[in-house]
Amino acid sequence: MSKTLRLAILGAGTVGGGVLTLLRENADLLYAQTGKQFVVRHVVVRDLSKPRAVSIAPQVLTTDAQRAISDPRVDVVLELMGGLEPARTLIREALLHGKHVITANKLVIAVAGDELIRLAQKQRVRLLYEASVAGSLPILTALQGALGGNRITRIVGIVNSTTNFILREMEHAVEAGEPAEDAYANALRKAQELGYAEADPTSDVEGYDAQYKTAILARLAFLQYVPVESVYREGITHLSGRDLLWATRLQMGLKLLSITERLPDGRLCARVHPTLLPREHPLYAVRGAFSGIWLQGNGFQEMLFHGFGAGARATASAVVGDLIEVARHPRPLRFEDPSLRAGETAPLETLSMRYYLRLTASDETALRLVRETLHALGAELHPAESLANGIEQVALTPMLNEGEFQARLTALRQQTGVQIQVIRVL
Ligand SMILES: NC(=O)c1ccc[n+]([C@@H]2O[C@H](COP(=O)([O-])OP(=O)(O)OC[C@H]3O[C@@H](n4cnc5c(N)ncnc54)[C@H](OP(=O)(O)O)[C@@H]3O)[C@@H](O)[C@H]2O)c1
Repeated sequence: MSKTLRLAILGAGTVGGGVLTLLRENADLLYAQTGKQFVVRHVVVRDLSKPRAVSIAPQVLTTDAQRAISDPRVDVVLELMGGLEPARTLIREALLHGKHVITANKLVIAVAGDELIRLAQKQRVRLLYEASVAGSLPILTALQGALGGNRITRIVGIVNSTTNFILREMEHAVEAGEPAEDAYANALRKAQELGYAEADPTSDVEGYDAQYKTAILARLAFLQYVPVESVYREGITHLSGRDLLWATRLQMGLKLLSITERLPDGRLCARVHPTLLPREHPLYAVRGAFSGIWLQGNGFQEMLFHGFGAGARATASAVVGDLIEVARHPRPLRFEDPSLRAGETAPLETLSMRYYLRLTASDETALRLVRETLHALGAELHPAESLANGIEQVALTPMLNEGEFQARLTALRQQTGVQIQVIRVL
């Protein structure tokens, strides 16, 4: 058996740089774990002249991805470029060349995972993607291994650490007495300055990143193929500092949660939206730029994974873990991946849950009809408060059906002109 594992790394940015660093720093450890030396043959980038956080020998640095993925002296291709194309095509071609592939790319795996997983199976090579969900947290490996003998009933996660950081910053700001209306913009700016959010933050703040991760997580937890578009998505851009202030007053936390559960009728419901959760919930403690995944299963009962969901070294930890797996078990098992099985999904409208509502109106008269409707539905209303822009009142409802309740709120908004902020409660 060969004593080396030869690598082509596509991308030397945050994650690629982190992988090169860990491969160097931990070479002795990796040898001890696998009996192999990991040799980097190619590092593919867009711009050869760009300064790099890690030193890369000029003879391995290249812009020629085709040569890297087809090189017969390469065993494993690590796709760490990001984006849908050319990443998807390069992964497909690398598999066709008989290479194992490791990727951190949630977009490609969420959108084209079925096709690529089947191709890897056909080619008798490994395709691993632990880093694509929640950075360093070994959740995908656990679901397919140590926890695989459990029937998972629910999986709830904070899978986007950027939005978790922003929400925490908003909370700090309103607690410090800063204006609630500026809280989101200020927190986003800080996240961008610290490198937690990109210049174009859409994928994080509109919930797309969490939606891709949810599709992958749900598929592996519930062994059912989950199309990305079946995952309900709502981001955090409509949240105000007032909502964070109210969360504190109500002894709750406000998080962007990824939630997947099997309904009693057998359908799977997967969703991403801002959620209020009680302080006693294990995910409440997942604060700032961290990720957390809490799950329930019929054997282990419940479990929390908590740690760095992003960043160079944390993400590299998951990529290198996949490399160890490839080094130890280079041949996939001969069976159809059970997570590709077709199954039914349920829309959010079928669920029932509790809601937090924050009503804002210019005067009492406008509020009255909304208040009466909520009262009739059994909601608990907090005393109204006068603010600079009108009157604000917060209500918490009992369990209500999503579809019926949202339709009722749409009608109430049109009828009364009252602004109604709605946040689901876990
Ligand atoms: N950053 C994180 O914390 C994190 C966490 C989990 C997962 N991920 C995932 O990891 C992947 C990489 O993210 P990243 O943050 O490391 O991105 P990044 O810092 O932007 O780095 C991307 C790298 O890929 C290279 N690249 C991009 N397009 C290319 C192309 N068409 N041809 C050749 N090289 C190309 C870039 O080359 P140049 O340097 O020359 O521009 C750069 O070195 C993404 O899928 C991301 O979703 C990231």
